[in-house]
Amino acid sequence: QDDSGARVFDLTIQSGATEFVAGGATDTWGVNGTFLGPTIRAQRGERVEFAVTNDVDEETSIHWHGMRLPAEMDGGPHQPIMPGETWRPHWTVDQPASTLWYHPHVHGKTAAHTYRGVAGMFILDDENTASLNLPADYGVDDIPLIVQDRKFDADNQFDDSIPLGSTSGTLGDEILVNGSHGPYREVTTRLVRLRLLNASNARMYNFGFSDDRPFQLIGTDGGLLPEAWETDRIQLSAGERAEIVVAFEPGDTVELRSYAAEFDLGDQTADRLSGEQDELDIVQFRAADALADETEIPETLAPAPDLGTENVAEVRTFDLEGRSINGQQMQMDRIDFGVREGDTEVWEVTNHNGYLHNFHVHDVQFQVVDVDGVEPPPQLRGWKDTVLLVPDLRYRLAMRFSDHTDPNVPYMFHCHLLTHEDEGMMGQFVVL
Ligand code: C2O
Ligand code: CU
Ligand code: CU
Repeated sequence: QDDSGARVFDLTIQSGATEFVAGGATDTWGVNGTFLGPTIRAQRGERVEFAVTNDVDEETSIHWHGMRLPAEMDGGPHQPIMPGETWRPHWTVDQPASTLWYHPHVHGKTAAHTYRGVAGMFILDDENTASLNLPADYGVDDIPLIVQDRKFDADNQFDDSIPLGSTSGTLGDEILVNGSHGPYREVTTRLVRLRLLNASNARMYNFGFSDDRPFQLIGTDGGLLPEAWETDRIQLSAGERAEIVVAFEPGDTVELRSYAAEFDLGDQTADRLSGEQDELDIVQFRAADALADETEIPETLAPAPDLGTENVAEVRTFDLEGRSINGQQMQMDRIDFGVREGDTEVWEVTNHNGYLHNFHVHDVQFQVVDVDGVEPPPQLRGWKDTVLLVPDLRYRLAMRFSDHTDPNVPYMFHCHLLTHEDEGMMGQFVVL
């Protein structure tokens, strides 16, 4: 704690070597370690403050993905941290319990820095979740899974080159989960909550279990869903999160996998989305012979997003094509528009390419109003900050920015395929 009563977290971005496979040292970056960073956890209403020290030899940044906060605390391209310097952002957490994350966001280098290993989870709690009897024992029946693909070269170094003809960017053929390669996990409870984070640069995952067992989707980017949805697959594009609850039988062994994408991109689907590898093992679960059974999924989880579309102050259109949005590419000194604090806006977003893009907005959680005029599917009925854009469908997103006005410091909106973002598929807005 400091004198303002904020809880202070010390984070140091550092370089080092990590052994992903026995005997092979890979040059990596991490936060307070050599690869990835600690899970940060805070309570709604709490004041948080960070001392983020850059101990690597390049300018970088830390962005708090999904967080409502003042623009100057956002950690985007306008808040770089120079080598040797410490940046001290602070804010009061004011949003529902959710699974957010952090990663670098320095202009033109987000893909490279994230690939080296700078990322971590940022979990928020609130009074509502405290009153629910969901699995919530961190590391026991509430397990974070940071999923990333990596390619290793002959010397065990990360290879982030982009294959010729690849539309999505770097795709790896090895999966790391929380920085572990080929992991398994013992579980000791009947119900287990998994917080899935797609922290990959480009790859999309379509998660499911090897025996196709159903599971309950309970939360998405910005918090719990209104009610659990039973499914056997959940797709996450880069930057998206999902909280699922899966049931185990004593002695069970089952693999969490990623399967082929569920929408059609013609015969190049595999190459375009998954790098010709449509089935990937993520992590194996091994259930103990006796399982504790003390949690349950309640009928209702959280209030449904309710921004509505009756009083829309502004409708904006975002056409994504190539590496541009509305025909323009990111420029640090161009602010595209200003939104007024407290207004409800609808952003109509369309991917005009035959390959994958998604769309992420800083400082806000939005409500998917409809997808091409059709009511959103269950996985898009909660708060979102990143949405996969199936080609040619128009996603209407309602959002309202509150509290943090600043005419000078912009927030970003962009495709979260990190190479696309670095190549200019990003714009800036201010809240007035
Ligand atoms: Cu996850 Cu603008 O970023
Ligand atoms: Cu973000
Ligand atoms: Cu894109």
